[in-house]
Amino acid sequence: MKHLLSIDDLGPAGIEEILRVTDSFVEVSERAIPKVPALRGKTVVSLFYEDSTRTRLSFETAAKRLSADTMTFSVSSSSVNKGESLRDTVETIEAMGIDAVVVRHRSAGVPWRVAGWMQASVINAGDGWHEHPTQALLDCYTIRSRRGSLQGLRIGIVGDIKHSRVARSDIAAFAALGASVSVIAPPTLLPPSLDGWPVQVAPSLDAILPDLDVVYLLRLQRERMTEALIPSLREYRACYGLTASRLARLDPDALVMHPGPMNRGVEIDAEVTDDPRSVITAQVANGVAVRMAVLYLILGSGAELRLPEPVLSGTRA
Ligand code: NCD
Repeated sequence: MKHLLSIDDLGPAGIEEILRVTDSFVEVSERAIPKVPALRGKTVVSLFYEDSTRTRLSFETAAKRLSADTMTFSVSSSSVNKGESLRDTVETIEAMGIDAVVVRHRSAGVPWRVAGWMQASVINAGDGWHEHPTQALLDCYTIRSRRGSLQGLRIGIVGDIKHSRVARSDIAAFAALGASVSVIAPPTLLPPSLDGWPVQVAPSLDAILPDLDVVYLLRLQRERMTEALIPSLREYRACYGLTASRLARLDPDALVMHPGPMNRGVEIDAEVTDDPRSVITAQVANGVAVRMAVLYLILGSGAELRLPEPVLSGTRA
């Protein structure tokens, strides 16, 4: 694997391979010293043109646990503020001799452009409304670790589908692994056309809730809305929020998921996150292991995975 740009590039077999390698890195993450020398001497740069907490820290943690060197490019303190173009920025970074760039940008397609400009590997960490493949992989891993497989599961994605790259990548990945995916949203928060998307539109959250194996909540991406698309946050919560009373109607084995950042009291009530069915914290933890697997498959030797011993021997818990 040279780059990770979209879920469709992976296909079901590619997704399965990453999930299988992730199992090994979950094991590493549970060690007393969760670090292996697999990517010693490699350099990974995070190039984030958009805000991020989880994704950036997760990639940096993953790279460090593989003993890669990491550099962070922070747009707010860079020469981008002096008018430097994306292309010049990328070529400057490449000239330093780096091995991989993790890119997040507000415009769809930027990771593909960056990949065309450099020799290094490119990982898409979110491009506009378009794709967020590592989020989808960590979501698949989290569901698979709780339910064994996604085959035949009924997954409902609720909320701002229109502006969500998480929804686009998740729908592709969940469907590729055999799940049946429904979207639940006000018509103004659905894309103009769902032609070609492997999803059904559910009539309402209340109608579908008891049948769901996974309820996946999305934030209202208000920074991407150019007009008022919902009457009010109160009405949104009343129809689409996972409230404590709705939670009572959810299957006892169902999972509640959210990519973060959450807006508590809007799409999800505060007490819902404490319910044992909520796997939101597990999503974050699995994110590190999934990103270790992605970096390893892209930058590792390419040989069949033989997991190296811990950096310091004799330290296993
Ligand atoms: C999301 C994103 O930035 O795409 N968060 C994430 O990466 N975990 C979703 C969001 O911003 O709502």
